[in-house]
Amino acid sequence: MKFLIMNGPNLNLLGLREPDIYGKEDMNALLARCQRVCDELGVQMESFQSNHEGALVDRIQAAYGNTDGIIPNPAAYTHTSVAIPDALKAVSIPCVEVHLSDINSREAFRRHSFVSPVAVRTICGKGFDGYEEAIRFLYQKLTAH
Ligand code: DQA
Repeated sequence: MKFLIMNGPNLNLLGLREPDIYGKEDMNALLARCQRVCDELGVQMESFQSNHEGALVDRIQAAYGNTDGIIPNPAAYTHTSVAIPDALKAVSIPCVEVHLSDINSREAFRRHSFVSPVAVRTICGKGFDGYEEAIRFLYQKLTAH
């Protein structure tokens, strides 16, 4: 089983970027945490981060036929992109949307996600724990009979 952890714009600056909101740990720490959970479950993990919407769409398309689950944090594109949810829908790969912060308790423009309708679940406001929960949730969903 293979999962793709996909992070959008400015998440490469984790640790530096608004640490009060996003935490003090960097992207390497996040990916190491995800890798540990995937290793425990026997899931192969790939990761991708881009600041560009089209690159994220291309990566989703490249997952077609070779990836069992996607864990996207589309970052700011969550609230603006139609192309990202369209791509997720096109490849029909189950996804759990994750946000480090609680997008529902911040500025009004963050309350709407174009991605949520195509996700099997949205987890937000739990920091790095949210990624772990997403991996475990997707694994359970895909292995349940
Ligand atoms: C975010 C929330 C978004 O509103 C924001 O634009 C981000 C990060 C989060 O993980 O909390 O870049 O997706």
